[in-house]
Amino acid sequence: MRKKITVVGAGNVGANCAVRIADKELADVVLVDVVEGVPQGKALDLLQSGPVQGYDVNLVGANDYAPTADSDIAIITAGFPRKPGMSRDDLLLANYDVVKTATENVAKYSPNCIIIVVTNPLDVMTQTALWVSKFPKNRVVGMAGVLDSARFRTFIAQALDVSVENVTAVVMGGHGDTMVPLVRLCNVSGIPLTELMDQATIDAIVNRTANGGAEIVKYLKTGSAYYAPSAAAVEMAESILKDKKKVLPCAAYLEGEYGINGLYVGVPVKLGAAGIEKIYEVKLTDEESAKLHKSAAAVQELVDVLKAKM
Ligand code: LAC
Repeated sequence: MRKKITVVGAGNVGANCAVRIADKELADVVLVDVVEGVPQGKALDLLQSGPVQGYDVNLVGANDYAPTADSDIAIITAGFPRKPGMSRDDLLLANYDVVKTATENVAKYSPNCIIIVVTNPLDVMTQTALWVSKFPKNRVVGMAGVLDSARFRTFIAQALDVSVENVTAVVMGGHGDTMVPLVRLCNVSGIPLTELMDQATIDAIVNRTANGGAEIVKYLKTGSAYYAPSAAAVEMAESILKDKKKVLPCAAYLEGEYGINGLYVGVPVKLGAAGIEKIYEVKLTDEESAKLHKSAAAVQELVDVLKAKM
């Protein structure tokens, strides 16, 4: 039987998720949005791309969640995008309501699905989805580390003039300015990055990675990135649907790992049919650990703002 993915939000991130899911022939797609006509129009347009692209995937658009019933995965992208000068955190209260409503409906119609959250501020919105869905923590995961690491890998590959495929890099922490690109764990086909690059170049790349989202917002002016974010979300969905068990940095609910408790923070996890099947607790240096805790504290601050409003 075909798999089924609900994509909530038919904006740039959501629509590009649908494109990538169809191109990979991963699953049928239900695209949901509050705006009348937009999910229907985009889904129909994508359906009509099938004969040319060669995919047999059904795509439908809807303004309600009935057609999403029994999805295997729900990717929540709905929300207000960042505008220039706006931090991801400014989006907190506005997007809380959006993610809450989306999660209530997803949980009602697809009680066994795995939720991938993409809406910003990412870590807190993922925590919202956990609270609202009441799903076990392995079935609610946030997309950020794959995107942040992809940016890190891109910049490293560009600087060294090597294939992006050979660059392994991991970014941990919250999806914000305090994210922690872990230079010590970066390598190019096993060669440590520190042997290939001077410290000043590494520092510049680390800084550019942490501000990778803002760099694109500055160019686009009216919104934020969507090609790489959708690629990242779909890599996660694919690992889950095909039970590939890829090890990817994702926002996971920590309960004591890394000394962090009751909070979504980006860490390496194994993604398979059960969702988050394992959280890897990498041994960090004191400096790395301090940076991770600083990043977690930034996420906690937002969670506290939200809790005060609830
Ligand atoms: C980014 C935004 C979407 O990192 O958070 O591009």
